[in-house]
Amino acid sequence: GSFAARIVTWQRSHGRHDLPWQNTRDAYRIWLSEIMLQQTQVTTVLPYYERFLSRFPDVASLAAANEDDVLALWAGLGYYSRARNLHRTAQQVMTQHRGRFPADVDALAAMPGVGRSTAAAIAAFAYDVIAPILDGNVKRVLSRHAAIDGFPGTAAVEKQLWRIAGDRLPAQPADIVAYTQGLMDLGATVCARAEPRCNACPVAADCAARAQGRTAELPTARPAKTLPLRHQRYLLLRH
Ligand code: ADE
Repeated sequence: GSFAARIVTWQRSHGRHDLPWQNTRDAYRIWLSEIMLQQTQVTTVLPYYERFLSRFPDVASLAAANEDDVLALWAGLGYYSRARNLHRTAQQVMTQHRGRFPADVDALAAMPGVGRSTAAAIAAFAYDVIAPILDGNVKRVLSRHAAIDGFPGTAAVEKQLWRIAGDRLPAQPADIVAYTQGLMDLGATVCARAEPRCNACPVAADCAARAQGRTAELPTARPAKTLPLRHQRYLLLRH
């Protein structure tokens, strides 16, 4: 089958299905989880996610909150600009979108703290929109599968990866949830940075990095910072 078909089938039998932000179409819950998961691991996010939803069960309650109360619930998660952007986005959804998150990727990506990949994940999970994601895990999966050389943080490499991500999408809206979650799950559980479990991978058969024995060197590591050189002259006065 196609790359997408294999990811979808694998996700349905081997992927994660019981995370609290799965099995919902509530764009507010999905958006909240994606923001929390941007820089924080699943196990850390879990209790914060539940506490946050208990206090702010919907976008209207969050929009009406004091920023200090939002920040207090975020305390410990780090990257606090996320919490301030969260609050601002909730207010924008209320004032500019009548309290409903839009299904349009560009409209979602225009919101504070929502990049293209997060916007696509929200649109896919909440509304079955077929759009590519490209977070750190997916960059690793795709740069290995297509054997893309070069640090993925550079504009040229990132552009190539976005093109590949766009080319591999499933054709059916009914498959986009499993596909999007499958790419995330594959990167998190099988296509690990160190010691990937290629024997358990649904796309190993045509993985270029594996064929070339280069899974350990792809994706290319961030180039080392060049050490600053200081030129110094000394004047020695002798008497
Ligand atoms: N990281 C980012 N989004 C995620 C999701 N939906 N499930 C698990 N981990 C994620």
